[in-house]
Amino acid sequence: MASYLTTEDLDVADRRILVRTDLNVPLEEGTVSDDYRIIKALSAVERLRNQGAIVVVASHLGRPKGVNPDLSMQPVAERMSQLGGFEVRHLDAVVGPSVKQAVAEAKPGDVVMLENTRFEPGETENDPELAAALATLADYFVEDAFGSVHRAHASTVGVAELVRSAAGPLLHRELTEMGKLSDPNHPYVVVLGGAKVSDKLGVIKSLLPTVDTMLVGGGMCFTLMKAQGLEVGNSMVQDDMLDQVAKLVDGPYGARIVLPTDVVVAPEFAESAPPRVVSAQEMPPDQMGLDIGPDTAAAFAAILDDAECVFWNGPMGVFEWENFRQGTAKVAEGMAEANGFTVVGGGDSVAAIRMLDREDDISHVSTGGGAGLELLEGKKLPGIAVLEKWKDD
Ligand code: 3PG
Repeated sequence: MASYLTTEDLDVADRRILVRTDLNVPLEEGTVSDDYRIIKALSAVERLRNQGAIVVVASHLGRPKGVNPDLSMQPVAERMSQLGGFEVRHLDAVVGPSVKQAVAEAKPGDVVMLENTRFEPGETENDPELAAALATLADYFVEDAFGSVHRAHASTVGVAELVRSAAGPLLHRELTEMGKLSDPNHPYVVVLGGAKVSDKLGVIKSLLPTVDTMLVGGGMCFTLMKAQGLEVGNSMVQDDMLDQVAKLVDGPYGARIVLPTDVVVAPEFAESAPPRVVSAQEMPPDQMGLDIGPDTAAAFAAILDDAECVFWNGPMGVFEWENFRQGTAKVAEGMAEANGFTVVGGGDSVAAIRMLDREDDISHVSTGGGAGLELLEGKKLPGIAVLEKWKDD
């Protein structure tokens, strides 16, 4: 049984509900370039407004140091409004008199969106004053930002200590589906990519004893390949991680790690750089690896096909650039074709699935990146732990 309340436990009609969502979406030239998280956040917002609540939406966007107009929530509010078909009134502050007044004037069914919570310096420090100011805006707090529950911030933890709080529908679904990975059917395959091995070391360590196979691509694979003694040319390598990585590769579960056998290389890190496929055993010293090669991608897809359970996080190459996206696209296709229970998390991996229009062929597409990894690592996430106190209240 869940150790938190859900929105079903709250009587929300005519009440002010502060909903923490994760609307940390990519922007290009001031507009939202990937609205996946907004679409997913809508379910809670729509449900609450239909039940006659006054909905106050809060989220961070990017990592601003203080107020930065380029990271305003304004375009996000606009997109939510378009997608939802109702007005989402963007407020120009997180807390303060103007926000208090706007919330006081709002009617049941209205939706307002606070400005980027990280414009307030106290947000990331979980400042009690900021938490208290947020708490004055709400009768209840709904935590629905799965992607942010690994952060102990004022809008994820501080406010939830002060106001009766429940998990939103998205958070509940994420925890239910991701929770199935703690008792996986076998073969259990984990696919990891992304730029830095340092971001994934914790999850590699904690999952290696459980998985049957761990497929590794992306920029991070070059640190593993170098740790195995391979020449990786000018590829991105985290030299300070080599010792730790070598211990894993040479350790009791090291044989479960599968690395690329071929690599797409280029002379420089540039979108227009000419791609060339080479064997992973013979990477030229003056080239850098920017994607897994076609043989590796096909081998990874075949392993996914036989899996009963798969978790994938992180692109296999520089997914933003057409010349270096094939590896990620092939793994995305392999995930969609796989018959087992499949979970995809992380912005680029989810974008690859959506680019192929195969979202419906994945058991669970997660809105969490780092939060999902920490959950799999078995860490207690502060934004979830804080909800527990209201369960027995
Ligand atoms: C994410 O995109 O993973 C979340 O929104 C958390 O963002 P953060 O890493 O900047 O805290």
